[in-house]
Amino acid sequence: MSGAAITPWVVGNWKMNPLRADAKQLVEELKQLLQNQNIEESKCHIGVAPIALALQSVQAQFSDSSRNICVVAQDLSRIAGTGAYTGEISAELLKDSEIDYVLIGHSERREVLGDSPAVINEKVKHALSAGLTVIYCVGESLEQREKGLAEQTVLQQICDIAAVVKAEQWRQIVIAYEPIWAIGTGKTASPEDAQAMHAKLREGLSQITPAGRSMAILYGGSVKPENAVELAACPDINGALVGGASLNAESFYQIAQAFANTK
Ligand code: 13P
Repeated sequence: MSGAAITPWVVGNWKMNPLRADAKQLVEELKQLLQNQNIEESKCHIGVAPIALALQSVQAQFSDSSRNICVVAQDLSRIAGTGAYTGEISAELLKDSEIDYVLIGHSERREVLGDSPAVINEKVKHALSAGLTVIYCVGESLEQREKGLAEQTVLQQICDIAAVVKAEQWRQIVIAYEPIWAIGTGKTASPEDAQAMHAKLREGLSQITPAGRSMAILYGGSVKPENAVELAACPDINGALVGGASLNAESFYQIAQAFANTK
C-alpha cells in the first residue's frame, strides 16, 4: 500500500526561534526564492510554524507571497473556548486569528513539557472540533528502538488519538513520524528504516480509517537538503517536518523542491 499520489507537505518547525528581525528576514528570503522559482502548490504544501507571538505577523508577511504558505501554531491549550486560563491559547482563538494548522504531540512537548497522552487527546479533540488541521507527531526514543519497541510505540501513539478522532475528522490530520534520536542530532533514520516505519504507520492507520490510505505521513529528524531527495523517493514518506534546516531559507526551499520534484 503506497502513498505515492499524496501531495507532499514540507513544514518548518521553528521551535523557540528565531529573534524577530531574523524571522522577518527568513520570510523575506523564502518569498524571494519562491518568486524566483515557484514550487507549485499542487506539487507541495509548504508551511512554517513560528512561535505563538509571531503567528500573525508571519501570516501577514506571507500575504503577498507568490503562493500560499500555511502558518502553523506549535501548540494549543488543552482547554477549549475562552475563559480564565492565564497564558493559554485555545483552538477557537487560533481559528479566530485565521491560524488553521497546529502541531500536536511533538516529542519536545511530550518529553520536556509534560504533555501526557491524556493532555494530547484533549488538544487533538479541541483542535479538530474547531476546524484546525492537526499535524500529529509520533516517534520512539533510542531506548525504545534498541529494545525493539519502536513500532509498538508509534502505533500506540496513533491508537491513543483514535479514542477522540471522529470518523470524518481523520482527513484533518497529517502524521509526522519523528524518531526522537534523530531530532537535532544530525542522525537521520536511513531511508529504508524510515520507509519501513511509514509503511507500518499507513497499515495501522488504514485499519482505523479508510482515510489512512490517503493521509500524508511526514518524516522529521535532521532532514536537510543533502538527504531530502532520498527520503522523498520513499513511497510512504509524504513530506518532511524540518527543524534546524528550516531556519535557513535556502535549505528549507531546497527540501521543499526535493519533495515537489521527486513525488
Ligand atoms: P531537526 O530537523 O532539527 O532534527 O528537528 C526535527 C523536528 O523536531 C521537527 O519538528
